Amino acid sequence: MTSLIRAAVFASGTGSNYEAIMETENLPCDIVLLVCDQPEARVIEKAKRYDTPTFVFDPKTYKNKEAYEQDIAKQLQSERIDWIFLAGYMRIIGPTLLKQYEGKIINIHPSLLPKFPGKDAIGQAMEADVDVTGVTVHYVDEGIDTGPIIAQERVNVLQDDTKETLQQKIQAVEHELYPRVIKKLLGQ
Ligand code: GRF
Repeated sequence: MTSLIRAAVFASGTGSNYEAIMETENLPCDIVLLVCDQPEARVIEKAKRYDTPTFVFDPKTYKNKEAYEQDIAKQLQSERIDWIFLAGYMRIIGPTLLKQYEGKIINIHPSLLPKFPGKDAIGQAMEADVDVTGVTVHYVDEGIDTGPIIAQERVNVLQDDTKETLQQKIQAVEHELYPRVIKKLLGQ
């Protein structure tokens, strides 16, 4: 039997994308670690349900980003992680992790990048009164949602959409798109 690629998911919040990845059949990798920077995040409960080992840290207890990323890097090395999937991880990845995982970190973002990068992309789209927004999966570089785009999918904004209904539609697309991109990238 060939051994599967080993991947870590980084998340800070609810973890619906983590869950969608875990529910995917024939995923070409094992999710062997969840990294979370919010000790109270709901994704931690979800990781328990799926028996995914977690590395939960509180950034406030570290001197700086380099210090906590070195701790993360140790965990990634001991778990022999090949790929990192960011799924609602609300921190910018620093040089410590970028250097070690060049071209092996991807992110999902709820807009059609380069439109609406950064926080509250759905709120930004509502504010801009656009007819179409969407979802982007991209490689991670040193910027905020600036890395090369891998895949995008459009979501129509209807007249009676609220931020909540738009978020639901976007998340439904995310839960299908992210696993599909992972399968394609990792060779299935
Ligand atoms: C998603 O909308 C993702 O695009 C963004 O953060 C959100 C995370 O949601 N980066 P969840 O924690 O996966 O439910």
